Formats: sequence, C-alpha cells, structure tokens
Amino acid sequence: MGISIEIESVRERLVQELPAELMAHSERVAKYAQELAQRFGYEDDERIELAGLLHDNCKHYGREELLALAQRVGYEPDTYELAAPEVLHAPLGARRLWRDFAIVDREVMLAVAGHTTGGRNLGKLGRIIYCADKLEPARDFPSADHLRSLAERSSLREFCVAVVAANLDYLSANHRVIHPASLEFYNELAGKSSHA
Ligand SMILES: [Fe+2]
Repeated sequence: MGISIEIESVRERLVQELPAELMAHSERVAKYAQELAQRFGYEDDERIELAGLLHDNCKHYGREELLALAQRVGYEPDTYELAAPEVLHAPLGARRLWRDFAIVDREVMLAVAGHTTGGRNLGKLGRIIYCADKLEPARDFPSADHLRSLAERSSLREFCVAVVAANLDYLSANHRVIHPASLEFYNELAGKSSHA
C-alpha cells in the first residue's frame, strides 16, 4: 500500500504550510503517539503517524480565519465553539483532510476532529492522539511527568481518563469554557470498570 509515500507527501506539504514550531510539535506528537501505540497494542503505525502529523493542520489559523473556513465548508459552530473559536481547528482540520490532503480515512478523521476536546467513540487511535497532544515531551506542566509515567503502568483507558481529568482541572481552574464533548469523553472513560 502506498501509505508511506502518502506520509512523505503530507509531511512535505505541512512543512510548507505550518510555522516551524507547530511543525516540530506535530512531529513530536506523531513520535510520542507511536510510542504509546506500541505500549497499548495499536498496530497501525502509519495511521498513527499520519494522524499525529496532521492533527494541528489549521492550528495556525486565527479566529476570523477559522470562522470563515467554517462557513466555507458548511460547518456550523456550536455555542461553545463560538465562545472559544480556536477549538474549531480540530473539527475543521478533520474536514481539511479530504478537501486539501486527499485523505479519506474515518479513523484518522475522528482522531483529528476529537484531539482537542475529546469525545465519545473516538476509538483507540483517537484516544492515543488526544493523549499524545497533551503530553508530547515538550509539554511541561506540573503533572506532565506523572501522567507520562502512568502510561507505563496503566491501561489506555486509565491513562486517558487521568489525562482528561487533568485537562478538565486546568480548564475549570482557569474559568475556561468546557465543551460538552470533553465531559462526555470523561464520563465514557470514567464510567467503565477498572480492568477495561
Ligand atoms: Fe497539537
């Protein structure tokens, strides 16, 4: 399958489009996501790399640009997205996959769409990309090392619920809007028995 060629052409295009620091972050997410994938038994390495590289493909757009893009692609932002339009880079980034990168892959699309807020039914790939984005090695917040070490001794669900909880703590401590998808994600992960 030609996915390796696809990855290289995606990488080349992203290098052209993204500011250097965002590109470096995307590479770190792809790499850390591959480590997590190995740890948690997700075997599609190339899909992980593609989702990691592409997850922030329009993170560098300003609010006005994101709102204009939403209108152009017929995406109607909800009230939470209108309150914090920067989160639109995730669902709109997912739509850019097929529009601008010719990638038609439901799993990768879901992972990109859900990487900022999380959401229900993200699947293993989506959970790994969500966690890798929050915890790639350059992420440096008080509980980051502790959370990274959890990956060594937890199930993906246990690891992921801890990462989501830390994110919700941060958002509420800073009086930031919490998207309902984040609460649904948390509840989906927390509502399972400990061996899941
Ligand atoms: Fe990111």
